[in-house]
Amino acid sequence: MYSKKFTESINQELEALKRAGKFKIERELEGAQGPEVEISGKKVFMFASNNYLGLANHPEIDKAAKDSIGTYGFGLSSVRFISGTGTIHKILEKKLSEFLGTEDAILYSTNFMANLGFFATITNELFGGDGKHQDAIYSDELNHASIIDAFKLCKRENTVKRIYPHGDMATLEKFLEEDRDKGYRFKIIVTDGVFSMEGYLADLPKLRELAEKHEAMLFVDDAHAIGVLGKTGAGTSEHFGLLGKIDVLSGTFGKALGGAVGGYIAGKKEIIELLRQKSRTYLFSNSVPPSVVIASIKALNLLKEKPELLNKVKDNAEYFRTGAKKLGFNVLDGIHPIVPVMLNDAAKTQEMSKKLLEKGIFVVGLWFPVVPEGTARLRFQISAAHTKEQIDQALKVLAEVGKEMGLI
Ligand SMILES: Cc1ncc(COP(=O)(O)O)c(C=O)c1O
Repeated sequence: MYSKKFTESINQELEALKRAGKFKIERELEGAQGPEVEISGKKVFMFASNNYLGLANHPEIDKAAKDSIGTYGFGLSSVRFISGTGTIHKILEKKLSEFLGTEDAILYSTNFMANLGFFATITNELFGGDGKHQDAIYSDELNHASIIDAFKLCKRENTVKRIYPHGDMATLEKFLEEDRDKGYRFKIIVTDGVFSMEGYLADLPKLRELAEKHEAMLFVDDAHAIGVLGKTGAGTSEHFGLLGKIDVLSGTFGKALGGAVGGYIAGKKEIIELLRQKSRTYLFSNSVPPSVVIASIKALNLLKEKPELLNKVKDNAEYFRTGAKKLGFNVLDGIHPIVPVMLNDAAKTQEMSKKLLEKGIFVVGLWFPVVPEGTARLRFQISAAHTKEQIDQALKVLAEVGKEMGLI
């Protein structure tokens, strides 16, 4: 029975979140996602979305999705091994693996599901998960929540987790050296390709060198890099000249590539086949909707047809980053369209993001525990769809509010 105790405990928890400043407010967008959105009847410029290429409401993506419904319907009403695999799903997987330079790829409903599915399958399901082996996983401390949660699905008796400080290749190397003769069955190094709080890139050349030296598998979650980095938008591997040389990639169609949903794992044929057979988050969760598959195919085509989108997001990010620095703000260096403006004070960050929104600029403020204590920041995210005028306006408002608050 739903007793008073449930209500009381839940309310206590919610109150605790509010007291700790961790209660999340969801702003209601009254229309589509884009460089300009409507909140509470007011138009504001959006600098808080992963819509890096502006495809979330691009006419060609919208049309592809709409047209697809007439042919393929809205949903598939089951999973692929039960009610049938769409030809379009196979086409998208083939296109994706060609794009990423891998042998094969498998679609999941989200990148989150893909990460959960991969680690649980490798550690628990190989050789029937007899519990007689141990695998070691080496993970950057700032890896995404989906990777952290993936470890929770790996049976404890099968898995040793070693968390290295963010980007600290020396510690990772030390761990690998220490573990050299421990008899682990597999070693897997896992990293985000781009870390979403800073926009920093993982050191893939060094990670690959260490993986090779220690016969470890290298897994890169490229959620924020696919459709953003590299000459053709294939992500961090392409950016570093390592296209096709990363053992396993995961990523999403939910950010640069249309922004709906849909995740994937790409890699060697046998890994993908194993996931199709044994990955529970794939096997027991519905197929990606046809409209999303068709629009994702379109997104990959658009990347080829309009490489200028990649240049535009890069130029826009550079323009904003340079402008914010010139104003006197402490801005993290980088090349990614995630551009953190560091205020290092949670209260000031909260106040500033509120003031910016009042003046028509929607940007997310991040503070502890989302980022380490004392490193609160405004995380601007730049899109190819932003016009120079919109970016100039953001900089103008940033300057006004910064001065008003005595920050610059
Ligand atoms: C690095 C990383 N991995 C995975 C995800 C989850 O992606 P999805 O929304 O497709 O589940 C995100 C999104 O926030 C991410 O930043």
